Amino acid sequence: MSTILLRSVPKTAQYVNNIVLQRQTCCTLNTRINFHTVNDNNSAHSKNSNGYNNNYKQNYNRNNKTRVRATAFGIAFTAAAAVLTTSDSDSKKDSSGKVDYKSVREAIANLLDVEGYDDGSYGPLFVRLAWHASGTYSAIDKSGGSNGGCMRFEPESKWGANSGLQIAREVLEKVKKQHPGISYADLYTLAGVVAIEEMGGPEIKWRPGRTDHVDGSKSPADGRLPDAAQGAAHIRDIFCRMGFNDREIVALIGAHSFGRCHRDRSGFDGPWTRAPTTFSNEFYRVLLEDKWTVRKWSGPVQYENATKDLMMLPADMALLTDSEFRKYVELYVKDDEAFRKDFAKAFAHLLELGVEFPGDHSHGTAPALGEKRSLWNRIFG
Ligand code: HEM
Repeated sequence: MSTILLRSVPKTAQYVNNIVLQRQTCCTLNTRINFHTVNDNNSAHSKNSNGYNNNYKQNYNRNNKTRVRATAFGIAFTAAAAVLTTSDSDSKKDSSGKVDYKSVREAIANLLDVEGYDDGSYGPLFVRLAWHASGTYSAIDKSGGSNGGCMRFEPESKWGANSGLQIAREVLEKVKKQHPGISYADLYTLAGVVAIEEMGGPEIKWRPGRTDHVDGSKSPADGRLPDAAQGAAHIRDIFCRMGFNDREIVALIGAHSFGRCHRDRSGFDGPWTRAPTTFSNEFYRVLLEDKWTVRKWSGPVQYENATKDLMMLPADMALLTDSEFRKYVELYVKDDEAFRKDFAKAFAHLLELGVEFPGDHSHGTAPALGEKRSLWNRIFG
């Protein structure tokens, strides 16, 4: 049964209640609907009762271990080979080689609700962590992506774009300690998936198999994540480099239904919607229906609505001003189910970019959203 948690909200947010209530029939069973006011820090979450559908290849690490074999060169060589074999992956240090991903999911879900942090949940931060861990991928040379878990090392940990994400990584250390067999790369991506599902989003296909690098030497140069101050051409450059098309780009940026901007992280300020811990198409609706003007303040250029309680980044506004992007904004306002489906596919694909899963060298399958692949993808994908 759907759990609907109603909260007391100020008048300016009342209409959101109606919208979200109307949407309840579209939400899948077992999802939660949370109402959060802009400055409301009290947690309204309850755990959903999703039956975890984890059909994972839990034994993948064992294959790696079999590489370490005793040979005629004696014990010393074997020991050296073992070190070499295990050195690229913390996940392989687990003595049993098994990870209980259902328990990992539960442990992540248990971390989400936090009174006093933002809107009462680490969920949006975990989603951003998963996205920034993966969004460094380049289809040109197949570098970057979530494999390696490199954001825990410099230089990625120090990139301006990743400011604030150390909070998520620190919080997730608890899960890593409980489940040392999971790689950081798997943990960071799974955290985003669990957060989305727990915040009422669609089920996201996710599988383990990412391994950890031992330092940040394989990180790409800074500059692969999008610059919020820029427009449509830049957005296409960034996302087409990853292999995404216009429809997928618009679907992915719909994640801005979650969370908020922080003055001390990006320099921008405020939430996109009045229900920032609930998955919805509300980002597109307010983008399309509200009247946006440049905010007069000492910070970077950003937009505010007439009631001044919501914000848009210049990059968000590009989804409105670019006619190709805009048609998908209009589609997702009208068709919440299309957004849920498209988002789930594109986000799952994002998390797999550049990852070679054991026994699968396809880099995952490209989501087919009913239009031609981007130019980059056709050339390099
Ligand atoms: C043009 C593309 C994008 C730009 C320019 C952009 C920019 C930003 C900025 C500036 C912030 C505020 C960070 C802070 O101050 O804490 C933010 C937050 C966020 N972004 Fe994006 N983003 C983009 C795409 C995406 C995508 C593709 C996703 C996920 C699929 C995503 C998920 C989020 C989430 C969930 C937050 C809220 C984090 C929190 O509340 O702590 N963004 N984004």
